[in-house]
Amino acid sequence: MKTSQLVLGIESSCDETGVALVLSTGLQVPALLAHALHSQVEMHQAYGGVVPELASRDHVRRVLPLIRNVLQQVQRQIEQIDVIAYTRGPGLAGALLVGAGVACSLGAALGKPVLGVHHLEGHLLSPFLSRDPPEFPFVALLVSGGHTQLMRVDAVGQYGLLGETIDDAAGEAFDKSAKLMGLGYPGGPALSALAVDGNSAAFALPRPLLHSGTLDFSFAGLKTAVLVQAQKLVLANGGDAGDARSLASGMSVAFAALPRLVRANLAASTEAAIVDILLKKSLAALEQTGLRRLVVAGGVGANRVLRNRLNAECEKRQVRVHFPEIHLCTDNGAMIAMAGAMRLQSGLQQPSTNYAFDVKPRWPLSALSQSKILDSILRNT
Ligand code: KG4
Ligand code: ZN
Repeated sequence: MKTSQLVLGIESSCDETGVALVLSTGLQVPALLAHALHSQVEMHQAYGGVVPELASRDHVRRVLPLIRNVLQQVQRQIEQIDVIAYTRGPGLAGALLVGAGVACSLGAALGKPVLGVHHLEGHLLSPFLSRDPPEFPFVALLVSGGHTQLMRVDAVGQYGLLGETIDDAAGEAFDKSAKLMGLGYPGGPALSALAVDGNSAAFALPRPLLHSGTLDFSFAGLKTAVLVQAQKLVLANGGDAGDARSLASGMSVAFAALPRLVRANLAASTEAAIVDILLKKSLAALEQTGLRRLVVAGGVGANRVLRNRLNAECEKRQVRVHFPEIHLCTDNGAMIAMAGAMRLQSGLQQPSTNYAFDVKPRWPLSALSQSKILDSILRNT
């Protein structure tokens, strides 16, 4: 095996096509050489959420030009790629199939091996792309649009689930609250922007499971409380019962007609409730494990309030907190190339030259350690 390997990463699990090149030298943390991203957000905005069929078709259009783009950035030829890593799951089946199909056909054409990567492992290891990478072991708070988990991470591939959401994910809580406020999709950044001018103590919203004694999360009740509060505000500002009911069915016109400060106050209170839950549970996980290092990953990790509060609270406790760079919090190819390179480097996974691929739309991260032996047997037979 060559001592240094050029790893191409392809991400296509949802609504971003991401491609990147990472150089693994086998000794230090692999280095990110180039990455490129096409976000489908604008395309899906008209529908208020991701339309899976449109997502797949757009990935088909974008992925090859993005691969050319990253190669051009570093003046490399496609033949110089040593391994192709792609997101194998979880995610939208059709979208995943595009990345897997391109990776495996490219691998077959070039005679280069391929490696299926877990999307959440990509998020989990994304802080290693930063200039100040973490050291193992650490507690990881994984907060994306579909997942909210606290993990104990001892090494690449050694992930123990400490707690997770029993209903909605933190990103979903942002997205659903934003939707009823008429803020469009994706809701997190829009709600956060509106919240900047608001008072986070204006409305007392619930923090479900905060004192449950477990490290599990629940956000479904919060979303309902935001809806009830929004309906009260509509009624208090001259709306009628029909206007209030329309919020529950996703018609946000009545809410959008409220004074901006009132809307900003509800957005800020919602953001504070979500951040509070994430903060308290993360601190409890650190206490429970006795670990002194926290890694935050996933799209919600881009939230400024969450970053500021975690920084402040961790500093008080002399705990190091690591975030991916803001632009690498949401889905991207760099994290997939990095996770692939780190799995290769740690000897956990051999790349395969069996190009008969499958994808795993549902794939719990905690199953990764158990499934790796079986996976490698299945993929090499
Ligand atoms: O990790 P990600 O890009 O995709 C998934 O794998 O789900 O996360 C997307 C989620 C969405 O729910 C989005 O609203 C949320 O991350 N998000 C944010 C922010 N940026 C993205 N939530 C709060 N504040 C943000 N700044
Ligand atoms: Zn993601």
